[in-house]
Amino acid sequence: MEYRRLGNSGLEVSVVGLGTNNFGGRMDYAQTERVVKQVVEVGLNMIDTSNSYGSTKSEEYIGKAVKGMRDKVLLATKVASPMGQGPNQRGTSRKHILEEVDKSLKRLDTDYLDLYQVHFPDQCTPIEETLRTLDDLVRQGKVRYIGCSNFAGWQIAQAMETAKALHLEPFVSDQPEYSMLRREVEKEVAPCCGAYGLGILPFFPLASGFLTGKYKRGQAAPEGTRLAGNSRQASSLLTNANFDVLEGLENFAAERGHSMVDLAFAWLLANPVVSSVIAGATKPEQVTENAKAGDWHLTSADMKALDGLLAKWK
Ligand SMILES: NC(=O)c1ccc[n+]([C@@H]2O[C@H](COP(=O)([O-])OP(=O)(O)OC[C@H]3O[C@@H](n4cnc5c(N)ncnc54)[C@H](OP(=O)(O)O)[C@@H]3O)[C@@H](O)[C@H]2O)c1
Repeated sequence: MEYRRLGNSGLEVSVVGLGTNNFGGRMDYAQTERVVKQVVEVGLNMIDTSNSYGSTKSEEYIGKAVKGMRDKVLLATKVASPMGQGPNQRGTSRKHILEEVDKSLKRLDTDYLDLYQVHFPDQCTPIEETLRTLDDLVRQGKVRYIGCSNFAGWQIAQAMETAKALHLEPFVSDQPEYSMLRREVEKEVAPCCGAYGLGILPFFPLASGFLTGKYKRGQAAPEGTRLAGNSRQASSLLTNANFDVLEGLENFAAERGHSMVDLAFAWLLANPVVSSVIAGATKPEQVTENAKAGDWHLTSADMKALDGLLAKWK
Protein backbone atom coordinates (compact mmCIF):
# COMPACT_ATOMS: atom_id res chain seq x y z
CA MET A 1 0.00 0.00 0.00
CA GLU A 2 1.23 3.46 -0.90
CA TYR A 3 0.97 6.29 1.64
CA ARG A 4 0.90 10.05 1.12
CA ARG A 5 1.13 12.94 3.55
CA LEU A 6 -2.21 14.50 4.36
CA GLY A 7 -1.66 17.92 2.84
CA ASN A 8 1.25 19.71 4.49
CA SER A 9 0.87 17.72 7.71
CA GLY A 10 3.24 14.95 8.80
CA LEU A 11 0.44 12.37 8.83
CA GLU A 12 0.86 9.50 6.34
CA VAL A 13 -2.46 8.26 4.96
CA SER A 14 -3.08 5.27 2.70
CA VAL A 15 -3.87 6.49 -0.84
CA VAL A 16 -7.00 4.32 -0.70
CA GLY A 17 -9.22 4.84 2.31
CA LEU A 18 -12.65 3.75 3.49
CA GLY A 19 -15.88 5.76 3.42
CA THR A 20 -18.51 4.63 5.87
CA ASN A 21 -21.83 6.32 5.19
CA ASN A 22 -23.36 2.88 4.51
CA PHE A 23 -22.54 1.71 8.07
CA GLY A 24 -25.56 1.54 10.34
CA GLY A 25 -27.86 2.24 7.38
CA ARG A 26 -27.66 -0.32 4.58
CA MET A 27 -25.00 -2.25 6.55
CA ASP A 28 -25.49 -3.96 9.90
CA TYR A 29 -22.74 -4.45 12.49
CA ALA A 30 -21.63 -7.89 11.21
CA GLN A 31 -21.09 -6.53 7.68
CA THR A 32 -19.32 -3.46 9.05
CA GLU A 33 -16.94 -5.58 11.09
CA ARG A 34 -15.99 -7.73 8.08
CA VAL A 35 -15.21 -4.64 6.01
CA VAL A 36 -13.20 -2.92 8.76
CA LYS A 37 -11.15 -6.08 9.45
CA GLN A 38 -10.31 -6.32 5.75
CA VAL A 39 -9.26 -2.66 5.72
CA VAL A 40 -6.65 -3.40 8.39
CA GLU A 41 -5.69 -6.70 6.72
CA VAL A 42 -4.78 -5.03 3.40
CA GLY A 43 -2.97 -2.09 5.03
CA LEU A 44 -5.43 0.78 4.52
CA ASN A 45 -5.38 3.15 7.47
CA MET A 46 -7.80 5.97 6.60
CA ILE A 47 -11.39 5.49 7.86
CA ASP A 48 -13.74 8.41 7.27
CA THR A 49 -17.05 8.82 9.08
CA SER A 50 -19.32 11.52 10.52
CA ASN A 51 -21.37 11.99 13.67
CA SER A 52 -24.43 11.94 11.40
CA TYR A 53 -23.85 8.77 9.32
CA GLY A 54 -26.29 5.94 10.02
CA SER A 55 -27.96 8.22 12.60
CA THR A 56 -24.74 7.97 14.73
CA LYS A 57 -24.43 4.17 14.24
CA SER A 58 -21.52 4.49 11.79
CA GLU A 59 -19.24 5.88 14.51
CA GLU A 60 -20.56 3.35 17.04
CA TYR A 61 -19.96 0.36 14.75
CA ILE A 62 -16.47 1.59 13.79
CA GLY A 63 -15.52 2.04 17.45
CA LYS A 64 -16.56 -1.53 18.18
CA ALA A 65 -14.93 -2.96 15.03
CA VAL A 66 -11.52 -1.34 15.61
CA LYS A 67 -11.30 -2.43 19.25
CA GLY A 68 -7.79 -3.81 19.82
CA MET A 69 -6.61 -2.32 16.48
CA ARG A 70 -6.92 1.41 17.22
CA ASP A 71 -3.22 2.00 16.55
CA LYS A 72 -3.54 0.55 13.03
CA VAL A 73 -6.16 3.03 11.80
CA LEU A 74 -6.69 6.76 11.47
CA LEU A 75 -10.18 7.81 12.50
CA ALA A 76 -11.58 10.85 10.73
CA THR A 77 -14.99 12.15 11.71
CA LYS A 78 -17.04 15.31 11.18
CA VAL A 79 -19.23 17.87 12.88
CA ALA A 80 -21.83 20.39 11.62
CA SER A 81 -24.76 18.24 10.41
CA PRO A 82 -28.04 18.72 12.28
CA MET A 83 -28.10 16.30 15.25
CA GLY A 84 -31.53 17.36 16.53
CA GLN A 85 -34.18 20.04 16.08
CA GLY A 86 -32.72 22.59 18.53
CA PRO A 87 -31.07 25.83 17.39
CA ASN A 88 -27.70 24.76 18.84
CA GLN A 89 -27.76 21.21 17.56
CA ARG A 90 -26.07 21.93 14.23
CA GLY A 91 -23.26 23.98 12.75
CA THR A 92 -19.85 24.82 14.16
CA SER A 93 -20.48 27.08 17.14
CA ARG A 94 -18.23 26.55 20.19
CA LYS A 95 -21.22 25.06 22.03
CA HIS A 96 -22.11 22.50 19.38
CA ILE A 97 -18.53 21.41 18.58
CA LEU A 98 -17.65 20.93 22.27
CA GLU A 99 -20.76 18.84 22.84
CA GLU A 100 -20.36 16.76 19.69
CA VAL A 101 -16.66 15.99 20.00
CA ASP A 102 -17.19 14.20 23.28
CA LYS A 103 -20.10 12.22 21.83
CA SER A 104 -18.00 11.19 18.82
CA LEU A 105 -15.09 10.14 21.06
CA LYS A 106 -17.46 8.04 23.15
CA ARG A 107 -19.13 6.35 20.16
CA LEU A 108 -15.76 5.68 18.51
CA ASP A 109 -14.52 4.38 21.86
CA THR A 110 -11.28 6.33 21.65
CA ASP A 111 -9.64 9.23 23.47
CA TYR A 112 -8.45 11.03 20.32
CA LEU A 113 -9.60 11.69 16.75
CA ASP A 114 -6.92 11.64 14.08
CA LEU A 115 -8.81 14.13 11.92
CA TYR A 116 -11.81 16.27 12.90
CA GLN A 117 -13.54 17.86 9.92
CA VAL A 118 -16.05 20.67 9.61
CA HIS A 119 -18.67 18.81 7.53
CA PHE A 120 -20.21 21.94 5.97
CA PRO A 121 -19.43 25.65 6.20
CA ASP A 122 -21.59 27.38 8.83
CA GLN A 123 -22.64 30.81 7.56
CA CYS A 124 -23.95 31.82 11.01
CA THR A 125 -20.78 31.23 13.04
CA PRO A 126 -17.65 33.37 12.61
CA ILE A 127 -14.78 31.24 11.31
CA GLU A 128 -12.62 32.60 14.19
CA GLU A 129 -14.96 30.96 16.72
CA THR A 130 -14.85 27.61 14.89
CA LEU A 131 -11.08 27.63 14.43
CA ARG A 132 -10.36 28.71 18.01
CA THR A 133 -12.55 25.89 19.33
CA LEU A 134 -10.84 23.33 17.07
CA ASP A 135 -7.44 24.71 18.14
CA ASP A 136 -8.41 24.18 21.79
CA LEU A 137 -9.30 20.56 20.99
CA VAL A 138 -5.89 19.98 19.40
CA ARG A 139 -4.18 21.50 22.46
CA GLN A 140 -6.27 19.26 24.75
CA GLY A 141 -5.20 16.18 22.75
CA LYS A 142 -8.76 15.23 21.80
CA VAL A 143 -8.04 15.96 18.14
CA ARG A 144 -4.77 15.61 16.23
CA TYR A 145 -5.51 17.35 12.91
CA ILE A 146 -8.38 19.41 11.58
CA GLY A 147 -9.96 19.63 8.15
CA CYS A 148 -12.97 20.94 6.26
CA SER A 149 -15.51 19.61 3.78
CA ASN A 150 -17.83 21.15 1.19
CA PHE A 151 -16.03 24.53 1.52
CA ALA A 152 -15.85 26.89 -1.46
CA GLY A 153 -12.39 28.05 -2.51
CA TRP A 154 -12.88 31.47 -0.88
CA GLN A 155 -13.99 29.84 2.39
CA ILE A 156 -10.83 27.72 2.49
CA ALA A 157 -8.72 30.82 1.80
CA GLN A 158 -10.56 32.78 4.51
CA ALA A 159 -10.09 29.98 7.06
CA MET A 160 -6.41 29.54 6.25
CA GLU A 161 -5.68 33.29 6.42
CA THR A 162 -7.58 33.54 9.72
CA ALA A 163 -5.65 30.62 11.23
CA LYS A 164 -2.37 32.21 10.13
CA ALA A 165 -3.23 35.66 11.52
CA LEU A 166 -4.42 34.27 14.87
CA HIS A 167 -1.75 31.53 15.16
CA LEU A 168 -4.38 28.79 15.25
CA GLU A 169 -4.18 25.22 13.91
CA PRO A 170 -4.77 25.27 10.14
CA PHE A 171 -6.92 22.85 8.16
CA VAL A 172 -4.79 20.07 6.63
CA SER A 173 -7.51 18.57 4.44
CA ASP A 174 -10.65 19.28 2.49
CA GLN A 175 -13.35 16.78 1.51
CA PRO A 176 -15.23 17.81 -1.64
CA GLU A 177 -17.13 15.70 -4.16
CA TYR A 178 -14.62 14.66 -6.84
CA SER A 179 -14.65 11.88 -9.42
CA MET A 180 -14.24 11.36 -13.17
CA LEU A 181 -17.92 12.30 -13.36
CA ARG A 182 -17.82 15.40 -11.13
CA ARG A 183 -14.84 17.69 -11.70
CA GLU A 184 -16.12 21.09 -10.48
CA VAL A 185 -13.47 21.19 -7.74
CA GLU A 186 -10.76 21.51 -10.37
CA LYS A 187 -11.79 25.14 -11.03
CA GLU A 188 -11.33 26.76 -7.57
CA VAL A 189 -11.22 24.29 -4.69
CA ALA A 190 -8.37 22.01 -5.78
CA PRO A 191 -6.02 24.89 -6.79
CA CYS A 192 -6.83 26.57 -3.47
CA CYS A 193 -6.02 23.35 -1.57
CA GLY A 194 -2.76 23.08 -3.50
CA ALA A 195 -1.81 26.69 -2.72
CA TYR A 196 -2.59 26.38 1.01
CA GLY A 197 -1.27 22.83 1.51
CA LEU A 198 -4.54 20.98 2.15
CA GLY A 199 -4.83 17.36 0.99
CA ILE A 200 -8.06 16.38 -0.76
CA LEU A 201 -10.14 13.40 0.41
CA PRO A 202 -12.57 13.03 -2.53
CA PHE A 203 -16.09 11.93 -1.64
CA PHE A 204 -18.36 9.97 -4.04
CA PRO A 205 -15.10 8.94 -5.81
CA LEU A 206 -16.92 6.08 -7.56
CA ALA A 207 -20.08 8.12 -8.24
CA SER A 208 -21.94 5.83 -5.84
CA GLY A 209 -20.60 2.74 -7.63
CA PHE A 210 -21.44 3.84 -11.21
CA LEU A 211 -17.72 4.20 -11.98
CA THR A 212 -17.04 0.55 -11.06
CA GLY A 213 -18.75 -0.61 -14.27
CA LYS A 214 -21.17 -2.89 -12.41
CA TYR A 215 -24.22 -1.11 -13.84
CA LYS A 216 -24.94 -1.97 -17.49
CA ARG A 217 -26.79 0.00 -20.13
CA GLY A 218 -30.41 -1.09 -20.52
CA GLN A 219 -30.26 -3.48 -17.54
CA ALA A 220 -31.78 -3.13 -14.08
CA ALA A 221 -29.30 -2.30 -11.31
CA PRO A 222 -28.03 -5.60 -9.75
CA GLU A 223 -29.94 -6.59 -6.64
CA GLY A 224 -28.51 -5.38 -3.35
CA THR A 225 -26.47 -2.58 -4.94
CA ARG A 226 -26.78 1.03 -3.87
CA LEU A 227 -28.51 2.17 -7.06
CA ALA A 228 -31.02 -0.70 -6.90
CA GLY A 229 -32.19 0.78 -3.63
CA ASN A 230 -32.23 4.43 -4.70
CA SER A 231 -34.30 5.14 -7.78
CA ARG A 232 -33.70 8.92 -7.69
CA GLN A 233 -29.91 8.46 -7.73
CA ALA A 234 -30.25 5.67 -10.30
CA SER A 235 -32.24 7.80 -12.73
CA SER A 236 -29.71 10.64 -12.54
CA LEU A 237 -26.68 8.33 -13.02
CA LEU A 238 -27.86 5.49 -15.28
CA THR A 239 -28.36 7.63 -18.38
CA ASN A 240 -27.35 6.90 -21.99
CA ALA A 241 -24.99 9.90 -22.00
CA ASN A 242 -23.20 8.60 -18.88
CA PHE A 243 -22.96 5.08 -20.33
CA ASP A 244 -21.44 6.47 -23.57
CA VAL A 245 -18.47 7.85 -21.66
CA LEU A 246 -18.32 5.00 -19.13
CA GLU A 247 -17.97 2.46 -21.95
CA GLY A 248 -15.14 4.55 -23.44
CA LEU A 249 -13.39 4.56 -20.06
CA GLU A 250 -13.91 0.81 -19.60
CA ASN A 251 -12.30 0.16 -23.00
CA PHE A 252 -9.38 2.45 -22.10
CA ALA A 253 -8.79 0.49 -18.87
CA ALA A 254 -9.25 -2.95 -20.49
CA GLU A 255 -6.75 -2.13 -23.28
CA ARG A 256 -4.18 -1.58 -20.53
CA GLY A 257 -5.10 -4.72 -18.58
CA HIS A 258 -7.04 -2.87 -15.86
CA SER A 259 -10.59 -2.68 -14.55
CA MET A 260 -12.87 0.36 -14.38
CA VAL A 261 -12.42 0.35 -10.58
CA ASP A 262 -8.64 0.62 -11.07
CA LEU A 263 -9.13 3.56 -13.43
CA ALA A 264 -11.52 5.50 -11.16
CA PHE A 265 -8.93 5.41 -8.34
CA ALA A 266 -5.81 5.87 -10.50
CA TRP A 267 -7.28 8.93 -12.21
CA LEU A 268 -8.00 10.69 -8.89
CA LEU A 269 -4.59 9.73 -7.51
CA ALA A 270 -2.87 11.21 -10.59
CA ASN A 271 -3.75 14.59 -9.07
CA PRO A 272 -1.03 15.19 -6.44
CA VAL A 273 -3.36 17.28 -4.27
CA VAL A 274 -5.44 14.12 -3.59
CA SER A 275 -4.25 12.38 -0.41
CA SER A 276 -6.63 9.45 0.08
CA VAL A 277 -9.59 8.20 -1.96
CA ILE A 278 -12.24 7.30 0.61
CA ALA A 279 -14.50 4.91 -1.31
CA GLY A 280 -17.46 3.39 0.49
CA ALA A 281 -16.99 -0.40 0.38
CA THR A 282 -19.82 -2.71 1.46
CA LYS A 283 -17.95 -6.06 1.18
CA PRO A 284 -14.43 -7.25 2.09
CA GLU A 285 -13.83 -8.17 -1.59
CA GLN A 286 -14.49 -4.55 -2.57
CA VAL A 287 -11.90 -3.39 -0.02
CA THR A 288 -9.31 -5.75 -1.54
CA GLU A 289 -10.11 -4.60 -5.07
CA ASN A 290 -9.99 -0.93 -4.12
CA ALA A 291 -6.68 -1.33 -2.28
CA LYS A 292 -5.12 -2.89 -5.39
CA ALA A 293 -6.43 -0.05 -7.57
CA GLY A 294 -4.07 2.34 -5.79
CA ASP A 295 -1.10 0.56 -7.44
CA TRP A 296 -1.80 1.83 -10.99
CA HIS A 297 0.10 5.02 -11.92
CA LEU A 298 -1.25 6.71 -15.04
CA THR A 299 1.29 8.33 -17.39
CA SER A 300 0.93 11.86 -18.76
CA ALA A 301 0.00 10.33 -22.14
CA ASP A 302 -2.76 8.32 -20.38
CA MET A 303 -4.04 11.50 -18.70
CA LYS A 304 -4.11 13.36 -22.01
CA ALA A 305 -6.09 10.56 -23.67
CA LEU A 306 -8.49 10.45 -20.71
CA ASP A 307 -9.02 14.21 -20.87
CA GLY A 308 -10.15 13.70 -24.46
CA LEU A 309 -12.60 10.97 -23.44
CA LEU A 310 -13.95 12.96 -20.48
CA ALA A 311 -14.31 16.15 -22.56
CA LYS A 312 -17.08 14.39 -24.49
CA TRP A 313 -19.02 14.21 -21.26
CA LYS A 314 -19.15 17.94 -20.61
N1 LIG B 1 -18.28 15.21 3.15
C1 LIG B 1 -19.45 14.93 2.63
O1 LIG B 1 -20.35 15.78 2.55
C2 LIG B 1 -19.68 13.53 2.12
C3 LIG B 1 -20.82 13.24 1.33
C4 LIG B 1 -20.96 11.93 0.90
C5 LIG B 1 -20.01 10.97 1.22
N2 LIG B 1 -18.93 11.28 2.00
C6 LIG B 1 -17.87 10.31 2.36
O2 LIG B 1 -17.32 9.75 1.19
C7 LIG B 1 -17.39 8.34 1.27
C8 LIG B 1 -17.49 7.76 -0.09
O3 LIG B 1 -18.73 8.10 -0.68
P1 LIG B 1 -19.82 7.02 -1.02
O4 LIG B 1 -19.55 5.74 -0.29
O5 LIG B 1 -21.14 7.64 -0.78
O6 LIG B 1 -19.67 6.87 -2.60
P2 LIG B 1 -18.66 6.09 -3.55
O7 LIG B 1 -17.40 5.75 -2.85
O8 LIG B 1 -18.62 6.86 -4.81
O9 LIG B 1 -19.49 4.76 -3.84
C9 LIG B 1 -19.64 3.78 -2.85
C10 LIG B 1 -20.36 2.60 -3.45
O10 LIG B 1 -19.55 2.02 -4.46
C11 LIG B 1 -19.66 0.62 -4.41
N3 LIG B 1 -18.31 0.05 -4.42
C12 LIG B 1 -17.23 0.42 -3.68
N4 LIG B 1 -16.17 -0.33 -4.03
C13 LIG B 1 -16.60 -1.17 -5.01
C14 LIG B 1 -15.98 -2.19 -5.78
N5 LIG B 1 -14.69 -2.48 -5.66
N6 LIG B 1 -16.73 -2.86 -6.71
C15 LIG B 1 -18.03 -2.58 -6.88
N7 LIG B 1 -18.69 -1.64 -6.18
C16 LIG B 1 -17.96 -0.95 -5.25
C17 LIG B 1 -20.46 0.24 -3.20
O11 LIG B 1 -21.73 -0.07 -3.78
P3 LIG B 1 -22.78 -1.13 -3.22
O12 LIG B 1 -23.41 -0.40 -2.09
O13 LIG B 1 -23.67 -1.26 -4.40
O14 LIG B 1 -22.03 -2.36 -2.83
C18 LIG B 1 -20.57 1.52 -2.40
O15 LIG B 1 -21.82 1.69 -1.78
C19 LIG B 1 -18.59 8.09 2.20
O16 LIG B 1 -18.66 6.83 2.72
C20 LIG B 1 -18.35 9.18 3.22
O17 LIG B 1 -17.39 8.74 4.16
C21 LIG B 1 -18.76 12.55 2.43
